[in-house]
Amino acid sequence: MTERELKNLWFKFFEQKGFKKIDSASIIPENDPTVLFTTAGMHPLVPYLLGEKHPAGNRICNVQRCIRTNDIDEVGDDSHLTCFEMLGNWFLGDCPKEDMIKLSFEFLTSPQYLGIPKERLATTVFAGDETAPRDDLAYNTWKECGIEKVYFLNKENNWWALGGGVGPCGPDTEMFYDTGKEPCCEECSPACDCGKYLEIWNDVFMQYKVENAGEKANLLARPNIDTGMGLERTVCVLNGTKSIYDTGVFKKVIDFIESKASVKYEENKKSYRIITDHLRSSTFVLGDFRGVVPSNVGQGYVLRRFIRRAVNHARNIGFDCKYFGDIIDLFVDKHGEDYSDIASKRQFIKDELAKEVEKFSKAIEEGYKEFEKVINGIERHKMFASQKGETVENILSGKAVFRLYDTFGFPLELTKELANERGYEVDEEGYKKAFEEHQEKSRSASVGAFKGGLADNSMESAKLHTATHLIMAGLRKMFGPQVMQKGSNITPERLRLDFNLDHKMTPEEIAELQDFVNNAIERAIDVTVSEMTVEEAKASGAVGVFDSKYGQVVKVYSIGDVSKEICGGPHAQNTKDLHHLKIVKEESSASGIRRIKAILD
Ligand code: ALA
Repeated sequence: MTERELKNLWFKFFEQKGFKKIDSASIIPENDPTVLFTTAGMHPLVPYLLGEKHPAGNRICNVQRCIRTNDIDEVGDDSHLTCFEMLGNWFLGDCPKEDMIKLSFEFLTSPQYLGIPKERLATTVFAGDETAPRDDLAYNTWKECGIEKVYFLNKENNWWALGGGVGPCGPDTEMFYDTGKEPCCEECSPACDCGKYLEIWNDVFMQYKVENAGEKANLLARPNIDTGMGLERTVCVLNGTKSIYDTGVFKKVIDFIESKASVKYEENKKSYRIITDHLRSSTFVLGDFRGVVPSNVGQGYVLRRFIRRAVNHARNIGFDCKYFGDIIDLFVDKHGEDYSDIASKRQFIKDELAKEVEKFSKAIEEGYKEFEKVINGIERHKMFASQKGETVENILSGKAVFRLYDTFGFPLELTKELANERGYEVDEEGYKKAFEEHQEKSRSASVGAFKGGLADNSMESAKLHTATHLIMAGLRKMFGPQVMQKGSNITPERLRLDFNLDHKMTPEEIAELQDFVNNAIERAIDVTVSEMTVEEAKASGAVGVFDSKYGQVVKVYSIGDVSKEICGGPHAQNTKDLHHLKIVKEESSASGIRRIKAILD
């Protein structure tokens, strides 16, 4: 089975069952500060899972491009990837749990579809706790289907929520392929990672919602079902292949690297796989229609880490980074078939990647100088100490090693190697400690970001979203229709909007823009929504990203005669709900891109 075949079967099955196929959203979430990347098929659908109407109806399916970096340290083993595609289907607003389980059973076992013998399947269901009762209905339905191995597991295994812990969530039922291996112990179950059971699909019963991180889950007025099947892993399982990297485009890339590298794949699989995975993720991030370039913040920082790690691992296996472009070609050839933005940005992806590799090589040069400085410092220290009859050991402090890593991108291994050449040891414990302290700091910073945003669908976010449309309308009126939104990020406290403009706005222009928006607020205009095809939306003068396929139905939000945009919502009902807008900052965001931060007071 190839990835293409599995995708085709998925759509054939669900379309036949009355589900409408929708496009994959961007890999970079819009208006959601809780996470940097789209992490699941349900992620772009959060507003609809919280009650907004979806233009394609209440039964939909798709394949969504995703990035998850929480397991980045596992990349290199047989199954972990930072970037993957997720097959999904949804019931919005009605929740026939038995129906979904029966659909899952049919797709997995029917000879027309995956044809897995039911004896090879095991499933898990929620065991119940203070939030939600034991899922007897799911259990009984699986039994009715003839599945013998059904396990009750607790929240840790059978409850699904977004990474930030905020938003729609609920108990799930997970489906596993039983490899037929001997159980690892008496309690062996799908909760084990002994390799007997491999997960292939997850049906989440999204009946709850968490308002703020750490708070308890409350029942949703309108429950949904969200399902997800990891494409690459499932193909691997169905083919009985030991590793994801042994099939499809992954294998092609590994073979290509091996044809140029001095170390063989068998001798260092980990480095080969990290290069492959990270360059693929870079292709998706750079090639996305809302893509970013390497930087020191947010998604740009993660992208930078992908590229720099790939460079370091290329060094490990004697692979010249000048061939990275050829690897990008292999990925674009494959994924460009499904994602036209990636196909059209082939050259851009290669150029940006090459620039970052070049920049990193310079940083490494700087790092070598810094390394010399550190050694010279210790040597001087030794001289003074010996004059006093004291001795200083040849050890590089953990802090210095961490600084080389953090500022100059020197991996520990490289520093160790250089240090050993000079007769020095490195304080690895100290390095680990400095590293953990740093992680702790970034973790608390990101927990700070897990507060609301459109993921919590809060009123404040909706109002700021409407204000964003008004600002865009004002900008286009003042500077012309070539001005477009280039990015948006909303928290319950403020909005942030990026747009193209060739100059810094003057204080007069900022005041004019603010007046324009406040005038629209005072006029108390109703915000209305209608549904139409992308072509109709375009013809009606709506602004927006016209990346949807021909004939696809979209929602268009209008604010009287002031604004008309293709947009998923949600929005305030009337502009008067916004009270008053204050622009607190106008600054440069990137070359030719300005950024406005504003609040409602
Ligand atoms: N959202 C669920 C998952 O990602 C289906 O597993």
